[in-house]
Amino acid sequence: MCGIIGYVGPRKVVPVIIEGLRKLEYRGYDSAGMAILEKGELVVVKKRGKLKALEEAIEGKEYTATTGMGHTRWATHGRVEDRNAHPHVDCKGAIAVIHNGIIENYQVLRDGLIEKGHVFVSETDTEVIAHLMEEQIDAGADLLDAARKTALQLDGAFAFLVLAKAFPGRIVAVRRLSPLVLGVGVGEMILGSDTPALLEYTHRIIPLHDGDIVEINDKGYAFYSLEDGHAFDRTPMTVQWNAAAAEKQGYKHFMLKEIHEQPVVIRDTLYGRIDIESGHVELEEFQGQPVPDHISIVAAGTSYHASRVGKYLLEELARIPTEVSFSSEYRYQRPIVRPGTMGIAVTQSGETIDTLAALRLQRSLGAKVVAITNRPESTVSRESDVTFVTQAGLEIGVAATKSFMAQLIAFYLIALNFGQRNGTLDAETSAHYASQLSSLSQKCEQVLEYAGIMETIARKFYKVHDMIYVGRGVNYPIALEGALKMKEISYIHAEGYAAGELKHGPIALLDEDVPVVGILPKGALYEKIYSNLQESIARDSPLVVLADRKDKRAQAIATDFIPMPPVEELFSPVIYSLPLQLLAYYTADGKGLDVDQPRNLAKSVTVE
Ligand code: F6R
Repeated sequence: MCGIIGYVGPRKVVPVIIEGLRKLEYRGYDSAGMAILEKGELVVVKKRGKLKALEEAIEGKEYTATTGMGHTRWATHGRVEDRNAHPHVDCKGAIAVIHNGIIENYQVLRDGLIEKGHVFVSETDTEVIAHLMEEQIDAGADLLDAARKTALQLDGAFAFLVLAKAFPGRIVAVRRLSPLVLGVGVGEMILGSDTPALLEYTHRIIPLHDGDIVEINDKGYAFYSLEDGHAFDRTPMTVQWNAAAAEKQGYKHFMLKEIHEQPVVIRDTLYGRIDIESGHVELEEFQGQPVPDHISIVAAGTSYHASRVGKYLLEELARIPTEVSFSSEYRYQRPIVRPGTMGIAVTQSGETIDTLAALRLQRSLGAKVVAITNRPESTVSRESDVTFVTQAGLEIGVAATKSFMAQLIAFYLIALNFGQRNGTLDAETSAHYASQLSSLSQKCEQVLEYAGIMETIARKFYKVHDMIYVGRGVNYPIALEGALKMKEISYIHAEGYAAGELKHGPIALLDEDVPVVGILPKGALYEKIYSNLQESIARDSPLVVLADRKDKRAQAIATDFIPMPPVEELFSPVIYSLPLQLLAYYTADGKGLDVDQPRNLAKSVTVE
């Protein structure tokens, strides 16, 4: 939520800010703005709308500033208007602030500041920071000290950057709960909400911890504690991603590129972890960790759906009782963590605030905690006993696709590893499953080859208002995920149901205007699902069926048929999720919608 960038160095800063914001725009795109120190003056430009609006506002201006910061907004407090865009400034227009997070006590602070004569121009929580800074600086504080004393007055989650006319060549950043990363370049320092924005300048990064303050200036960087102000050091780590990963590479959208990357993601996530001959799954990450007696998974959104598949796999392959909770619910319950429980937080970004809070709760209740994340440098990763890094690579499209795939593969590996270690799986069964798992990448390639079928079917959905997705067993979460993909990027109301539940209420919704998408792989539940699909035909719903390509019975009942390569039911979620991603993609694209940046969404949800 919200993207932040700050730079001090020899380059002209405006292009650095604009390019940085372009890479961070997936975090929010309601408005964009920048503050720079131009020839001794603080210049602030901000516009509602996407980054393009800011670019248009500064077009033709020849700025020479080399210190500055930028912000792309996902609105929380205050409507989407120019005045509510960041940066926010103090009464004199001499101090600028950008912020990601929510200041919970802003109203009290604002009232107090207004009483002292401060004039507010925005409806945001952030503006109080600029005025509190003004109070401190007017009282003689240095930029660093002013930022610390200001931050100590704030409740809630924040990462903010300050820049002031009186302190040229310096930016101070403070983090509590909202993510912020420092990029350590050669003779230049860059701060960003997320690593991809920094990769063009450096691969040496330091993720800020909660309670860190960092100052960047022409000499380098220095860390201080928010609590007591003492100075300390943090060592940079090197990230491997290259900047090209943040380009579309010929695809119309990042989402489409990321869908097509999935066969490689599967191979990369399996690489070095599975011996095809013996079926042995070796997970270095879990070395020294006993196989748990119970597992409690916390996650949100798409990661929650992957976790639902994970529960099925852990119970089926390792016979370990597993519960899955939305992190946003778990954190406000009184969960029971028994001895021998392993907590697993599943999060692509590693920064989802509810998932982080749920993991902390699990840990405080005595569970060993594992992170399944795509971001080894993330907060969730840092706070876990074990981190399983999914190898999805950088995911830019707001709708999660390849990271979901990598999470599924992670669960297959973990379930197989636990099942082998606790004696649930014998050598023969293990070898069989290993060979199934390693064949999935190729099967996904086959599905992607006929993406055109999904494009054609999607045309029928442009005018549809409601859709129902059904699956059963291990594919019930795939129905949930298919529906989520459709609603978040095409704005069609879509619901996923366990196929057997249809007749307990949702069937009342069905008629010739409500298409049903049925997931019907060969397997133990085939006949049950088949009958459930018949029930929808009887209500005149157009029926899209995903089934084995040779399945004549499925073809016979389908209005539209999506032929799938043969696969065992247990492994079908991997390949059956692909057509559903493509259906959503082509529907949204055909409707002319902004696939990579759907309205109201943000890739990393760092507010509650
Ligand atoms: C949907 C989507 C979201 C995320 C959710 C959790 O396509 O991307 O539902 O899955 O916000 O995010 P992470 O996995 O980063 O915790």
